[in-house]
Amino acid sequence: MDFDTENRIVPSSLPSDGTDFSRRRVLSVLAASAAAAGLSPLSEPAIAQAARSAAQAAGPAAGPAKAPPVPAFKRNARWSVTEPPNSWEDITTYNNFYEFGLDKSDPYENAQGFRSRPWSVEIAGEAEVTGRFTLEDILKPHALEERVYRFRCVEAWSRIVPWLGFPLGDLLRRFKPTSRAKFVELTTLLDPRQMPGQRSGVLDWPYVEGLRIDEAMHPLTLLAVGLHGRWLPNQSGAPLRLVVPWKYGFKSVKSIVRIRFTERQPRTSWNISAPEEYGFFANVNPAVDHPRWSQAKERRIGASFLAPRIDTLPFNGYAAEVASLYRGMDLRRFY
Ligand code: MTE
Repeated sequence: MDFDTENRIVPSSLPSDGTDFSRRRVLSVLAASAAAAGLSPLSEPAIAQAARSAAQAAGPAAGPAKAPPVPAFKRNARWSVTEPPNSWEDITTYNNFYEFGLDKSDPYENAQGFRSRPWSVEIAGEAEVTGRFTLEDILKPHALEERVYRFRCVEAWSRIVPWLGFPLGDLLRRFKPTSRAKFVELTTLLDPRQMPGQRSGVLDWPYVEGLRIDEAMHPLTLLAVGLHGRWLPNQSGAPLRLVVPWKYGFKSVKSIVRIRFTERQPRTSWNISAPEEYGFFANVNPAVDHPRWSQAKERRIGASFLAPRIDTLPFNGYAAEVASLYRGMDLRRFY
């Protein structure tokens, strides 16, 4: 399938969040091509319709209800930016979670009935300790901390999020990865009955992401269970999601059910879907444009539509902490 769209599907006068729109158009083309190739019975409108019927079946949406508060946590100032966080509503009503539909409001509207408890996570691959662990087992030894991070989507929007969680590395070390563990693969739940978007061929489900082991062990890499002092709502990736603040948001896989240590670089969903557009590394880089739009600037969610776009920073502002991980690598090639 040819993913090089050569501006054909990008409207000549883009709306202010035109990059989102063009990405959606690409997805609809992908879904249509997949359907034409017999891979998926659903086109994008059908996905939206399926998502809406699931939401109707689940009853009226609960409104921007806040999740229950997390019992105890401390703000970690060392790893927090000082910019004011976006509101709960900004963070939880404009989301990417294609399992619940393609529109930004779909996850909020369609994920309310999703069952994120009870939950378990399988630990697999190159580690001394493997098996299935309940969410409670996973969380038990870790003190939760709040970290206010910048979050930059590949679609050129951004926001400031006060996450609650703990370093992924602290969890990974508990399973004693072997010397062959060079990468970590993280996988979202596969459950098309609960996740209507998974009935479409938009992505190769389940959603899979991965990190090199040194990236996974970096103290900035967070396993998040909450935000704004509360447990994660479903649309934000309950009960457990990744947050890698120096990478584009698509690396931050939601609702994780499997963590696998691997010797080889894992195959990741967006990279499989459009390799020229979404690399494995996906480090935020204003100097390397996406093939269909510039990455030099970003639109801050919550700001006025008239507000000028702001400059995107190398590694999303975390260069001092992480640039050394990529010393000697050609970041144009390894995008
Ligand atoms: N994880 C899963 N399982 N499915 C998705 O569609 N979207 C990714 C990422 N994680 C996605 C996902 C993308 S493209 C982004 S930008 C972020 O989630 C958005 O996270 P947010 O909705 O909490 O801002």
